[in-house]
Amino acid sequence: MSNFYQAEVLSVHHWTDRLFSFTTTREASFRYQSGQFAMIGLDVDGKPLMRAYSMVSPHYEETLEFLSIKVQDGPLTSRLQNIKVGDSILVGRKASGTLLSQNLLPGKRLYLLGTGTGLAPFMSIAHDPDIYEQYEKVILVHGCRHIHELAYQERISNDLFKHEFLGEMVTDRLIYFPTVTREPFKNQGRIPDLLQSEEFFEKLGVPAFNVEEDRFMLCGSPAMLKDTVAVLEAQGLTEGNMSHPGHYVIERAFVDK
Ligand code: A2P
Repeated sequence: MSNFYQAEVLSVHHWTDRLFSFTTTREASFRYQSGQFAMIGLDVDGKPLMRAYSMVSPHYEETLEFLSIKVQDGPLTSRLQNIKVGDSILVGRKASGTLLSQNLLPGKRLYLLGTGTGLAPFMSIAHDPDIYEQYEKVILVHGCRHIHELAYQERISNDLFKHEFLGEMVTDRLIYFPTVTREPFKNQGRIPDLLQSEEFFEKLGVPAFNVEEDRFMLCGSPAMLKDTVAVLEAQGLTEGNMSHPGHYVIERAFVDK
């Protein structure tokens, strides 16, 4: 059996000239946990050209959803950005990834910190009822340059809170904190700077940084991960993995080079 299957594109949404998302059919045998990624791609000159993409869609959804940047000379995204409803893409049969709550020590608050397309894995996690069983508060921080790049704002701040099954749970527990860095907005600043400001925790209405109670999942560019990890480690937090749960876990957001 091939490592990939053909999924049919069901919808495409262009957020900006740098960002788009799309949904596809899902093979019944394809299983994943919220926060994981799969290899997806296109057949280019008879060869599969694949990149890692986190699933935006929660694990129980019948369709798959992905969020992607558009890189004009990127080998995959220069092509992928042109997909239309009815086209086929390749989806890997195996999901993996470290953004899993079992890699974290028990805690009270879970911070989901993503920049750009690093929001993707946190969309599936924020739609997973299990996460709200494990944490008193789930704090979803999405950092972008500009307001119009804050993908899924409506879905998070409106639809999720009105969701038939998740709405009640989310109302008490989820805090959504979109922030931008290059224009005025209600929240501004880079994630590592926010973590070092009292105002951030005051705005969230939660206790300040606390090693015993706070857990973190990070997804963004290599520079964002490096700078955010430096802040966390300065507070004594350690990275978790499959064999040793820790205070934080990281995943690199997809970049098409
Ligand atoms: P900034 O506007 O100050 O560069 P990008 O689109 O380049 O991936 O950026 C997405 C968001 O991540 C932007 O708000 C950007 O801020 C921010 N960012 C860029 N570099 C870092 C970093 N080293 N640490 C934290 N955030 C960063």
